[in-house]
Amino acid sequence: MAEFRTVARLSEVPVNTAKVVRHGMKMVALFNREGTIFAIEDTCPHMGASLAEGTVHDGVVACPWHAWRFRLADGTWVDSPKLKVPCYPVRIVGDDIQIEI
Ligand code: FES
Repeated sequence: MAEFRTVARLSEVPVNTAKVVRHGMKMVALFNREGTIFAIEDTCPHMGASLAEGTVHDGVVACPWHAWRFRLADGTWVDSPKLKVPCYPVRIVGDDIQIEI
C-alpha cells in the first residue's frame, strides 16, 4: 500500500521555484510549476549536479552543468527516453507536500 510522507510545506516552494529536500538517503527536487508540484531525484545521473538548480521550460528541467534534460512529470531523460531519474508521486494535504515512498 502506498505510503506518503510530508517533505515540505507548500509555502516553502513558491510558484515557479524549486527546493531540494532530503528523504532518507535521497535528495529530492520539488518543482512548483504554475501551482503543480513535481518531485524527482535531485542528483543528475551524469555528474551529480542539483537538478533543482536547472532551468525549466515546458515541463522539462535542464541540468545546470551540461544541460541534460529531464521531464518533471515522470523523470524521463528527454534525449534518451529509455533512461529516467526516479520520480515520486505527490499529493498536497493542507499546506503539506507529501511524496510517495
Ligand atoms: S551533471 Fe547534469 S548534465 Fe552533466
